[in-house]
Amino acid sequence: MAPFSPRLLAAAAAAALIGVLATASSAVARGETAAYTRVFSFGDSLTDTGNALHLPSTGGGGPASRPPYGETFFRRPTGRASDGRLAVDFVVEALRLRHPAPYLAGGETAAEFRHGVNFAVGGSTSLPPEFYEGRGLKPFVPVSLANQTVWFDKVLQILGSSDHGRRKIMASSLFIVGEIGVNDYLVSLIGNLTVGEVKTSVVPHIVAAIRSAVNEVIAAGATTVVVPGMIPLGCEPQLLALYQGGGGDAGDYDAKSGCMTRLNGLAEHHNRELNRAIAELRGAHPGASVAYADLYRAVTDIVVSPGRYGFRDRPLAACCGGGAGAYNFNMTAFCGASGSTACADPSAYVSWDGVHFTEAANRHIACAVLKGRPYDDGGAPPAAATPTTWPTAAEAGRSRIGCS
Ligand SMILES: *[C@@H]1O[C@H](CO)[C@@H](O)[C@H](O)[C@H]1NC(C)=O
Ligand SMILES: *[C@@H]1O[C@H](CO)[C@@H](O)[C@H](O)[C@H]1NC(C)=O
Ligand SMILES: *[C@@H]1O[C@H](CO)[C@@H](O)[C@H](O)[C@H]1NC(C)=O
Repeated sequence: MAPFSPRLLAAAAAAALIGVLATASSAVARGETAAYTRVFSFGDSLTDTGNALHLPSTGGGGPASRPPYGETFFRRPTGRASDGRLAVDFVVEALRLRHPAPYLAGGETAAEFRHGVNFAVGGSTSLPPEFYEGRGLKPFVPVSLANQTVWFDKVLQILGSSDHGRRKIMASSLFIVGEIGVNDYLVSLIGNLTVGEVKTSVVPHIVAAIRSAVNEVIAAGATTVVVPGMIPLGCEPQLLALYQGGGGDAGDYDAKSGCMTRLNGLAEHHNRELNRAIAELRGAHPGASVAYADLYRAVTDIVVSPGRYGFRDRPLAACCGGGAGAYNFNMTAFCGASGSTACADPSAYVSWDGVHFTEAANRHIACAVLKGRPYDDGGAPPAAATPTTWPTAAEAGRSRIGCS
């Protein structure tokens, strides 16, 4: 596929929304310094630290393989869809762990995987291609959450030959399952499903896929699983630009944030349903700790009060892109393509390329994840009493990455 074809850009952009931070803790630590020994993470481009680069369908390319991606921190493109670190990078720093190995980067040895594995792939959906084919829609990449859990099973076999040994490894690991689902929503909305149709016919399947992945890792012995929720879709420059001029099904704009209320309503609906599933998981697995990470609030807090968090006062414009106008987003001049330019100070921006966050926003998201803020949108029951050391480990980690 030609680099920067609109379809690839869409895929790359979508892929970018991947994942995030996961993290949680295992019951292992009880009073010891290292609460966790490694991280296993699942998700999309918000969490991908180098997997999509190795998909044959991207030809080793995609925008995140080119400058100016990585310019702030790594000083070179690494496959991360940001100017620097992702939230998962900040979380492992905060917990003083090694960066998990991108699963598709090669290796496939116990030595490689012993320090944790990142299964997140830019562009990944939570639902498999069959779900979309039946509806006349096309996912961006041939990877869904089911592929990632199959890879996890393979890693499990490589890591330990006895069931007891494997369960011990899982119990000392932090699992981060998500963010995943953004690409499902992009595929559906770009394919002209209405927000109402997405709510009734897509959301329940996405939440079921996430629940099934969490069940699977707990069955393998995981004792701490962090499940990040949906980001505020209505604040994404890509979607703001897509619906600009009244097309589509965006609905009104929120007066305080400038975000699209109907798309944010979809994200809030996702998060309510996800929390319902998390409550059920807690009931079914009293020996495991399942934490919710509120990415929605982490991002909307900045968008509503950018100055308070050190961001500029136009938080809905992308730092890097080729668009004129309020959002600086143009799909045919996507960040890194000719016709695009990057802002001088990415740390003042929330959105890096219109789809993915800047390193500065990712740090803030990581801080929020490490805060373990309880879900407070009403309805969801409080967390069950669990044996987790996550709150203590997370709080200690916050100070290490400069959270206020
Ligand atoms: C994901 O799983 C599907 C169905 O098993 C398979 O066809 C596809 O090739 C897998 N993708 C990758 C990248 O392995
Ligand atoms: C969605 O609708 C727009 C505007 O009506 C149209 O141009 C576009 O081709 C449609 N996309 C799909 C995938 O049907
Ligand atoms: C988007 O970028 C392309 C390529 O640089 C350019 O031809 C087009 O005019 C731009 N569209 C808008 C609306 O700015």
